[in-house]
Amino acid sequence: MKPIFHRQGGAVLLKVMLFSLGLTLVFTLIANLLPQVEGEAAQEQEIDLGALTMDGFVSLGETLFSGKGTCTLCHNSMGRAPDILQLDMVAIAKEHLADETYQGAATSVQDYLRESMLQPSVYVVKGFGQKGSNDTVSPMPVVNKAPIQLTDVEIDAVIAFMQAKDGNDVTVALPQGLPASEAAPAAGAKQAVVAALPAETAEQAFSKFSCTACHSVAGTTSPVGPELNTIASRLDKAQIRQSILDPNAVIAEGFDAGMMPLDFARKMTISELDLVVNYLAAEAAASQSGGQ
Ligand code: HEC
Ligand code: HEC
Repeated sequence: MKPIFHRQGGAVLLKVMLFSLGLTLVFTLIANLLPQVEGEAAQEQEIDLGALTMDGFVSLGETLFSGKGTCTLCHNSMGRAPDILQLDMVAIAKEHLADETYQGAATSVQDYLRESMLQPSVYVVKGFGQKGSNDTVSPMPVVNKAPIQLTDVEIDAVIAFMQAKDGNDVTVALPQGLPASEAAPAAGAKQAVVAALPAETAEQAFSKFSCTACHSVAGTTSPVGPELNTIASRLDKAQIRQSILDPNAVIAEGFDAGMMPLDFARKMTISELDLVVNYLAAEAAASQSGGQ
């Protein structure tokens, strides 16, 4: 080290400059990994059902689509599910209702969209079925069940959004005369606020980042991605970390690339990532001893 540094002043200066450039890069990287709490969708939506207009209902649907509904986790431009935001879903619903292989019970666009959310496997869009199911089983979760758990009113709001976003008529009715306990949109908004706080346990992080929408982990089940209860028997800690930060570096056998979101490195705090990685790395030991 010494001889190199002292060979000539220019080299030392260059090294110092490279070193501070490196430091700047490191800090930029760290800054990007730090909590992005303000950036997150923490809209507090106080919904007064009495005063709710159709515009308000549609915008609630839009919020739910990318928030509590976790629809954009899969319905995006990555190609593993139809890119709903770019598609006229009313036209598509009509097309699929007229498809000779359609065997569902819906006769209207709104019923088709509702059926797609509540019984996804009734009609599976060609090429989008669960791997190996020959398009008979949909990888889409049932949206009124855990972990997504949209209420009936929220499902109607999402349908209204899917109809309105391309200028089509909204056919679902505004919610009316619901008892306060069923005025769920407000509760959903509160959940969104909670979701923006840094997670304090691995379980909170799994739900905050919707890992449970796609993975069986910590007592929830989903078949979209590899189950994570025994992940530690397949991957070491560094590999687990990499598969979260850079999902496409290695694709799990039997699964497709392009499903797992690519932005966790930006969205998770360092401590949230540690919670998740430590939890997953400890799973094998726990499952071998019969624990959860
Ligand atoms: C884990 C991934 C995933 C999530 C989350 C998800 N979907 Fe899907 N969805 C899919 C896939 C894959 C398909 C295509 C296969 C099929 O037809 O079921 C699909 C199909 C659909 C269809 C039918 C599309 C068509 O062309 O007929 C609708 C409508 C839909 N989803 C709406 C939603 C809404 C609304 C949400 C959020 C409340 C949502 N999805 C959440 C994966 C997902
Ligand atoms: C929209 C669906 C989806 C979401 C949300 C999702 N994943 Fe994944 N994940 C996948 C799929 C599909 C794979 C397999 C393909 C691959 O390796 O990229 C995968 C792979 C992984 C793997 C590697 C598994 C193995 O056996 O190699 C880990 C670890 C993982 N995910 C953790 C997470 C964590 C932690 C979260 C939440 C912070 C999360 N995933 C969110 C779909 C998802």
